[in-house]
Amino acid sequence: MAVNIKAIKGTKDTLPSESYKSQYIEQAALDIAKTYGFHEMRTPVFEYTELFDRSVGETTDVVQKEMYTFNDKGDRSITLRPEGTAGAVRAFLEHGLFNEPLPQKVCYLTSCYRYEKPQAGRLREFHQFGIECFGAASPLADAEVIALANSYFVYLGLENFVLEINSIGCPECRKKYSEALKAYFADRQGDLCETCLSRLERNPMRILDCKSPVCSEIAEGAPVVLDFICDDCREHFESLKKYLDASGIEYTVNPQIVRGLDYYTRTVFEFVSKDEKTNGLVLCGGGRYDGLVEELGGAALPACGLAIGLERLLLAMEESGVAFPEPPQCNLSIVTAGENAVLKALEISADLRAEGYSVNIDTVGRSIKAQMKYANKINSQYTVVIGDNEIESDSAKLKSMDDGTETEVKLSSFCEGFERAFMDKAVADFGNADFSSLTQIDINNLLK
Ligand code: HAM
Repeated sequence: MAVNIKAIKGTKDTLPSESYKSQYIEQAALDIAKTYGFHEMRTPVFEYTELFDRSVGETTDVVQKEMYTFNDKGDRSITLRPEGTAGAVRAFLEHGLFNEPLPQKVCYLTSCYRYEKPQAGRLREFHQFGIECFGAASPLADAEVIALANSYFVYLGLENFVLEINSIGCPECRKKYSEALKAYFADRQGDLCETCLSRLERNPMRILDCKSPVCSEIAEGAPVVLDFICDDCREHFESLKKYLDASGIEYTVNPQIVRGLDYYTRTVFEFVSKDEKTNGLVLCGGGRYDGLVEELGGAALPACGLAIGLERLLLAMEESGVAFPEPPQCNLSIVTAGENAVLKALEISADLRAEGYSVNIDTVGRSIKAQMKYANKINSQYTVVIGDNEIESDSAKLKSMDDGTETEVKLSSFCEGFERAFMDKAVADFGNADFSSLTQIDINNLLK
């Protein structure tokens, strides 16, 4: 029987012709994070299920409906991470990072797994860039975290997005708010979906992010949490606004934001695309979670963070026509005729690759014409043809595929000759380039 294996629904392959875009946004994320003092942490793709039950929350959509959970061969319940915060907190505690200077500022690039209905910008396997700041209670930390995401979007050239902020208060405010919600939803109990009915007693705030059309319609008229927050939480929120104003970061207060994960306290926020084609897509979500470290067995330690969906970010960038850097090019294709030329090509390519150049040699035994055609197709910047004549005369013609100019280069010192021609052209191109939009990060990368 013929095998018909396809990628699993809601997953996405990134092909070589596209992967440079992902590499670009991932590297930029790490570069920007570094400028704010956040350093990378890597945690496993799976964790004990209990970790997510306890942190994300048992009554959330993520835990109730979306997790990829299975028993391993030792009969332990394991879950593919649906998000990055829980694992980061677990690792923070397990490795005693609370003994390091606080605040500890970590960032991560991770794959995440949620069994959601796939659609544009919503996948079952997706990737996040996240940051977490442990050990800072001040709203200044919230503002810094938000500023990092804002700087990142600006650096990438994204323009049409808004930052929406809200406060969902502390557990004390939440008690009062839960009572108000219970009273509100009690009247419409009969119309709620089964999951929300069970949430009504245990965690009525979760009804607000139910994706069922009937529940969301009922939720529209519900009381908003901002009306129930205590003086301390309000002061925290007011200070955050002041710090955002001082940082020149625009925002709107959206009292409807409650976020779909249980660990948040006080500040919650989202960056939402306003571009025509991706309007409404949430690119980034985050907030403060002052109770989570303690909930997972640590001492009481305030924390805040955020995560950006990288597939959504790429989609928003592509749809809004943001410029990406040029895809990587093959610097030189060595076209060979005969065995001696192949041996010379091996020598030259090894030397050039050691210098960091991308070099292609023919490994299928094609004719010179076919090798030239291939060099063209893979977008080589230069070609050189080597045959017995070139080896005998110790001289070959280095051809720029850009403008067709040819430079005579000695084979015995090919590496130097190539580098000279390459640099001369790069300098000439630099002379014509517009550097006005380069940031210091770009310049640092160029100098690397
Ligand atoms: P979240 O809002 O669940 O928050 O996810 C963060 C971002 O991941 C979303 O804004 C979205 O861009 C992206 N995302 C979520 N689900 C999908 C999906 N199914 N397909 C594609 N992209 C998706 C968190 O995960 C929190 N851990 C953020 C955080 C960190 N809060 C504090 N620290």
